[in-house]
Amino acid sequence: MTPTRRVALAAFALGVAAFARPAAAQDLTLYCSVQEEWCQGIANAFTKKTGISVAMTRKSSGETYAQIKAEAANPKGDIWWGGTGDPHLQAAGEGLTAEYKSPQFAELHPWAQKQAAEANYRTVGIYAGALGFAYNPEVLAKKGIKEPTCWSDLVKPEFKGEIQIANPNSSGTAYTAMASLIQILGEKAAFDYMKALHVNVSQYTKSGAAPAVAVGRGEAGVGIVFLHDGVTQAINGFPVKVVAPCEGTGYEIGSMSIIKNAPNLKAAQAFYEFALTVEAQKTGADNKSYQVPSNSKSPLPEQSPRMDKVKLIDYDFKKYGSSSERKRLLAKWDEEIGSQR
Ligand code: G6P
Repeated sequence: MTPTRRVALAAFALGVAAFARPAAAQDLTLYCSVQEEWCQGIANAFTKKTGISVAMTRKSSGETYAQIKAEAANPKGDIWWGGTGDPHLQAAGEGLTAEYKSPQFAELHPWAQKQAAEANYRTVGIYAGALGFAYNPEVLAKKGIKEPTCWSDLVKPEFKGEIQIANPNSSGTAYTAMASLIQILGEKAAFDYMKALHVNVSQYTKSGAAPAVAVGRGEAGVGIVFLHDGVTQAINGFPVKVVAPCEGTGYEIGSMSIIKNAPNLKAAQAFYEFALTVEAQKTGADNKSYQVPSNSKSPLPEQSPRMDKVKLIDYDFKKYGSSSERKRLLAKWDEEIGSQR
């Protein structure tokens, strides 16, 4: 064989090796529970920064929790980024996620640190957002319905068929709504309220933000969603307004957890560190997600709903993120509300 031919063959072999790299051998497998656009945005920013390629799957918070649990004997994912904190806390409590404390920990807001401390550092807060209503003033005006301001408005007969909220089994947003109502009204009255609301609900969606999209398109009058998800639709040019309910409301501490026995632990830790930086947190607003970032040095996007202007309850994350309570409440919702249609 001539030297040239040998070199050519070697180059061919190298090329094949590069091509033959199976998709499963991605450098990082990311389970993402925020809006698709932001999931893509942060994955791209991370790859650009580190050269580590990312295989990303977007699923709602409750669904991702269930997937991580189902895969626990043979984990496929490395890191779970985003989604409401309750199922992250449940995963932490069940030992499905790994302990990790970042050198950037001191830079985080106290609420983000508290989330980590309560879970023995098996999760951490990455953003916060208040729950409320997104509504379409044009749809409501056409039907002569007064714009809602309180939880008590949504059970009035004129809202029949006008309301969307997600299913709390799949969606962390809807679980936050259920837990908030229980903390505001007490459990018995909250279930009575959800039964009355059920009459007015046209659809229980899979993802928490989907009702805001339906409201923007005029397919529903009101969505029970995080306020920032309503703002995204308004920024997208749809006729959507947001309001925080007068009786008070709950909020989320969006979280991030490294999956226990992650196949690519080093890459998971690199992503974790990246996600806590000001640079990475800026990708939220860049992709029209307006949560409050957890790094105290991250600027609050000007479009973010001001949480200090909202009547917030002192949401008990420890209780509502505990495995026994979340399981119990979801089973009760299935039995008393979900099975009604
Ligand atoms: C949206 C919100 C996030 C929230 C997430 C929960 O993406 O912007 O702040 O954490 O929904 O999603 P889920 O589908 O579980 O309700």
